Amino acid sequence: MKGKVLKLLRQNDSAFLSGEKISNELNCSRTAVWKHIKALRDEGYDIIAVQNKGYQLTKSAYLLSEHDIYSRIKKNDLFENVVYHNSVTSTQTVAQQLANEGVSEGTVVVADEQTGGKGRLGRVWDSEKGSGVWMSLVLKPQIDFRKAPQLTLLTAVAVTRAIESVSGLPLSIKWPNDLLVNGKKLCGILTEMQADPDRVQSVIIGIGLNVNHGAFPEDLSEIATSMNIEAGKPFNRAEVIAAILNEFSWLYRTYLSQGFSLIKPLWEAHAVSIGKKIVARSTAGTTEGYALGIDGEGVLLLQDNQGETHRIYSADIELK
Ligand code: BTN
Repeated sequence: MKGKVLKLLRQNDSAFLSGEKISNELNCSRTAVWKHIKALRDEGYDIIAVQNKGYQLTKSAYLLSEHDIYSRIKKNDLFENVVYHNSVTSTQTVAQQLANEGVSEGTVVVADEQTGGKGRLGRVWDSEKGSGVWMSLVLKPQIDFRKAPQLTLLTAVAVTRAIESVSGLPLSIKWPNDLLVNGKKLCGILTEMQADPDRVQSVIIGIGLNVNHGAFPEDLSEIATSMNIEAGKPFNRAEVIAAILNEFSWLYRTYLSQGFSLIKPLWEAHAVSIGKKIVARSTAGTTEGYALGIDGEGVLLLQDNQGETHRIYSADIELK
C-alpha cells in the first residue's frame, strides 16, 4: 500500500494530490493515507503536506527502497516479490537460501551494499553502498540444465535494452555476460544453478550494474565505468531496476514459450565480440581465433588459426 501511495504521488509529478483523492483511489481511509505518508517520510522521501491542497512529492532523492521498486513494476509481472536489504554479504547467497526454502519464481533480492559480492570465476565484485544495482533473480524454469547458460544471454539482452531506454547510452555485449560502454565494463552477470540430473531446480541470476559511481579506484578506472560517468548525470536506481525487470519478464516469457530463437538476434544486435579476433580462456585451456558467432543454443563458435571450429560453453573472452 505504501508503494501505491508513492506511485500516485510520483504519477502526479510535482503537483499536489489531495488526501481524499488518494484515499478514493486506494479505497482506504484518510488516516491510513497519512500513516503511509509518514512511513515514506521516515524512509527519507521529501513529501510536503499543505492544508486544503494535499501532498506533494518534492524529490525522490536517489533512495532505494522495496516500495519504490515495487511501485514501478508493471502489474501482472513475473517479479512480484521484492526482498530488499540495506546490506548483505551477497544477494546471490540470500537468493539461493530463499530458493532452497521454496520461495516462488520471480523473487528478486536487492541490496544497497554487498560486503562479499561475488564475480565470475571466484572473483570479488566490488559493491559499494548507494552506488549500484546489486540484485539477484530467483528463477525456476522447466528447462534442460544444459540450456541454463542461455538465460545469461537473455539477461544481457534485458539489461542492455533497459539501460538504453533509461539512459540512451549505447551498450555492447561481450560474450557471454559483460556489458560494456566505450569498451569499459558497466555490468556483469553471474548465473548460478542448482539442478538434478534431469531437471533444473533453480537458477539464480546475479546482476551487478555500476550506476552512480562518480569515479573508480585507479586499478579499475581503465576497465570499469558507470552510467553516471558515461551519461554525466546520476540515475534513480529503482527506475533502472524496474526497467530491467520489465524487460526481463517479457523476454523470459517469450523464451519459455518459443525457445532461444527470438533472443538470439536481439543478443547478436549488440554483440561486440562477433566477427573479431579473440582469445578465449577457460579451465580447458586457451584458444585464439576468430569469433564466428553463437549457435542456436547460445554456444560461442570460435574458429582457430588452423581453421578448426571450437564450441565454447564457458570462458573469459579478450578482444584482440
Ligand atoms: C562478473 O564477474 O562479471 C559477474 C558479477 C556479478 C555481480 C552481481 S552483484 C549482484 C549479485 N550478487 C553477487 O554477489 N554477485 C552478483
